[in-house]
Amino acid sequence: MAGREHWRSRTGFVIATIGSAVGLGNIWRFSYVAGENGGGAFLLVYALAVALIALPLVVAELALGRRGGGDTVTAFEAASPKSPLRHAGWIGACGAVLILSYYAVVAGWALKYFSGAALGGLWSAAFSGYGAYFEQFIANRGEPLAWQMAMLLMSMLVVSAGVRGGIERLNLWLMPLLAVIVLALAAFALSLPGSTAGMRFLFEPDWAMLARPSLYVAALGQAFFSVGVGMAIYITYGSYLPGTFRIPVSALTIVAGDTLFAIAAGLAIFPAVFAMGADPAAGPKLAFVTLPQLFLAMPAGTVVGSIFFFLLVAAALTSMISLLEVPVALVMQRLRWSRPAAVAAVGTLIFAIGLPSALSYGVLTSVRLAGMPVLDAIDHATSGLLLPLAGIAAAFAAGWAWHRRTALEAANLADTRLGTAWRWLLRYGVPATIAVILLRAAGLA
Ligand code: PHE
Repeated sequence: MAGREHWRSRTGFVIATIGSAVGLGNIWRFSYVAGENGGGAFLLVYALAVALIALPLVVAELALGRRGGGDTVTAFEAASPKSPLRHAGWIGACGAVLILSYYAVVAGWALKYFSGAALGGLWSAAFSGYGAYFEQFIANRGEPLAWQMAMLLMSMLVVSAGVRGGIERLNLWLMPLLAVIVLALAAFALSLPGSTAGMRFLFEPDWAMLARPSLYVAALGQAFFSVGVGMAIYITYGSYLPGTFRIPVSALTIVAGDTLFAIAAGLAIFPAVFAMGADPAAGPKLAFVTLPQLFLAMPAGTVVGSIFFFLLVAAALTSMISLLEVPVALVMQRLRWSRPAAVAAVGTLIFAIGLPSALSYGVLTSVRLAGMPVLDAIDHATSGLLLPLAGIAAAFAAGWAWHRRTALEAANLADTRLGTAWRWLLRYGVPATIAVILLRAAGLA
């Protein structure tokens, strides 16, 4: 068999992985959840969740992937050949497919808005109001499907060009551009008169919120989703890591990059929302209903708006690529298919699985799963259940199935205090925290 593909450089790997982590979750989900959960108080708990839960898991997943030397299923089989844990790779693989199936739909909405913003159609739609505009669009039979397909095709194109030539190359030029864009948008928003209220909304701590259990559930859920642990992405990307790269520093850079990006996006959005007197708690509709209205009212808003939607599309694309690579790597290795064949088959399958999500506010609007539209239900089931479950599995595989020495060496943490702390967290801290949160979410604790 030909040798496994590898990243060209450490920078390329770190930037591609930040590209995976930074996505729709950072741009609107983070700021909205932070605002709703007590601003600065939420940020504090979020930072702890990232440092104590997400970061150790990123290290564990990268180590499992590198040592496994293959797809995510292989990684779990290698770490734990005899226990039932060997099947756990399938959780992440299925999770990645399911998340991508609806993520592509939302990314398609962003692409529609970007093209409308750049070509002008979005701005002339303002008469009827963006609420009606958005609702009409997502209720449409064919249009959301076309945009969903366009986003998937772009991701497929990049992934079929391979780890170095596709994934690493695209991220290397796109991610620095996105960093510049988000900082410029933040600077612009902060320069608007009345923007300080937005800063307060995002940062001013409402300490009373710390007494609410829902804050902890929200913080952990957001940490999982935003960093993207539990979906086998780090396992898959880790399998392309040369043995010489040291994992801990990269992992720290990745989660720090993801968090800084989220804060910068919050600074771009909320000062503007407050400066224009809009509703900060609009939730999922914020990006598609509130923001277009706001762009229209601000100086140079059509340009700023086009740039914002470009940011949204590009951030979503780099995340979609990483989600797609998980099942593609699996099919390539297990069925010995070529990369292009695997991409074509998996991409088509994901498009098909995503159809009910794409139609969930239109033709299928009367279909409810657990009382929710299909897209929302899949979102909840994957981020609320599959992600944490796969997280526990990775913690068990690296913390319990591996011997102490193996684990510490695989993670480049041998003979360090940090290594001891990391292993303790994986064995006890991480599973216990996730279990409590899962039970809470299920209403059992
Ligand atoms: N982390 C990405 C975001 O913030 C989304 C994502 C979630 C990607 C889960 C992979 C797995 O949008």
